[in-house]
Amino acid sequence: MSLIDEAARVRERAYAPYSGFKVGAAIRAEGGRVHLGVNVENAAYPEGTCAEAGAIAAMIAAGDSRIAEVAVIADAPRPVPPCGGCRQKLAEFGGPDVPVTLATLRGAREETTIGALLPGAFGPSDMEAS
Ligand code: THU
Repeated sequence: MSLIDEAARVRERAYAPYSGFKVGAAIRAEGGRVHLGVNVENAAYPEGTCAEAGAIAAMIAAGDSRIAEVAVIADAPRPVPPCGGCRQKLAEFGGPDVPVTLATLRGAREETTIGALLPGAFGPSDMEAS
């Protein structure tokens, strides 16, 4: 199954009763394992979490730490750009050349990279003492 198909399948389990906007994310870690996430909203709206954040949490909990590939899908008029916070979260665990596929259920696809989504990202190497 393709990474987008994995994201589409898990998207059905998203918990988005407030926005009605379900998102699925799939991350292939270095080593090949796939980790899945969905958006999980909350009655206290700002407490909701994005699908990408869920997939990252699943990756870390499973013992992987480096992202090799990302896929995100929603039922939208155009492929949904990850929010700013998720761009930063992805950049923590994946290099700038890591491919990101943004997709819609209607078949649109946009291929980008973590580096294109967040040029000049602040990352762990920026905190190394000189
Ligand atoms: N959302 C994601 O899960 N990922 C994105 O890339 C964009 C937005 C979620 C957050 C919220 O639950 C809903 O979509 C509407 O913003």
